[in-house]
Amino acid sequence: AVYKIAVLKGDGIGPEIVNSALRVLKRLGELSGVSFEFEEGLIGGIAIDQKGEPLPQETLELCLKADAVLLGAVGGPKWDNLPTSKRPEKGLLQIRKALDLYANLRPAKVYEPLISASPLKEEVARGTDFIVIRELTGDVYYGEPRGIFIENGKRVGINTMKYTEDEIRRVVKKAFEVALKRRKKLTSVDKSNVLEVSGLWRDIVEEEKKNYPDVEVEHLYVDNCAMQIVRRPSSFDVIVTGNIFGDILSDEAAVITGSLGMLPSASLGEKYALYEPVHGSAPDIAGKGIANPIATILSTAMMLRYSFNLERLASAIERAVELTLQKGYRTPDIYSEGCIKVGTEQMTDAIINSLEEI
Ligand code: NAI
Ligand code: MG
Repeated sequence: AVYKIAVLKGDGIGPEIVNSALRVLKRLGELSGVSFEFEEGLIGGIAIDQKGEPLPQETLELCLKADAVLLGAVGGPKWDNLPTSKRPEKGLLQIRKALDLYANLRPAKVYEPLISASPLKEEVARGTDFIVIRELTGDVYYGEPRGIFIENGKRVGINTMKYTEDEIRRVVKKAFEVALKRRKKLTSVDKSNVLEVSGLWRDIVEEEKKNYPDVEVEHLYVDNCAMQIVRRPSSFDVIVTGNIFGDILSDEAAVITGSLGMLPSASLGEKYALYEPVHGSAPDIAGKGIANPIATILSTAMMLRYSFNLERLASAIERAVELTLQKGYRTPDIYSEGCIKVGTEQMTDAIINSLEEI
């Protein structure tokens, strides 16, 4: 089979880190006999400069006919003074909507040797390896009515928390399927002691549980979950939750790993999927050759797992990254004393070497 990947490098360090990930994928293809085909499209600031809009029609069409999309990052100071509707980040919102991506997967994994920037104590952080699945299309962000209204002559701000049964079910099913590919433990997070929407959410998790008898399910209130993530992070496997709780918990999960440059993500829909690092375009280090490519490389591992079902190749990439870190290679953002400080290219070489060893 040939897997067609739409490649959107974007701005800032985007091209550097995506090139690095493509080198790893190409080498993996040679080693395994699987073919990947890459086709590039413009997105973000560079698309504004060259085509006048952050998501040109031809880029969207390229994505719609690809098997998966790999994205670098968009944005930068050059475009910061444009109105919100014309900025590079608008391209991201547009593509997520056009591809109907409803489940955002963000793994939080702590690597050995530990990276010192984690705010957690070593004995708490060690062994952390979970994934937060955030619903992306519904919740209080989109529910109607919304707005600022006048009530009894005073202003009142209103948002509506709303989820349909189908919106909940599709993300919950996705979460069960992800759990089946991992350690088979699902934590569903809600606030069903006070929210009607959460009561429905919990009911649907209970209904779907019957279809996934191998998965162990726990329910946590969001406030308790926020505490448990810093108290016992290594006990979680897959966490699934709605849009607003997921927004908050996924940032909390990210910070406990201590390494923005190492966090991958996947956004999945029924037909399409987009993979990108969690971090942005890092304009402060763009063009210096020191960006950490690991988040993007790990995003391609997620692509192999969730879009192409190439589990063996996905874990080969993850093991190569782990092995490379164990050997002591570090880009400046994750460097600590005694390690080998390298730039983007050398880190990529080291990961490819590790890939060849396994
Ligand atoms: P950022 O994630 O780009 O950078 C935050 C800090 O982390 C910076 O000091 C940066 O140098 C560092 N950093 C990030 N990724 C790194 C990597 N791979 N290796 C080494 N260091 C890394 O966030 P910031 O500075 O808030 O935003 C910069 C631009 O990126 C803005 O235009 C923002 O809108 C955009 N952005 C784009 C996102 C996307 O494309 N998905 C997500 C977040 C921000
Ligand atoms: Mg956030």
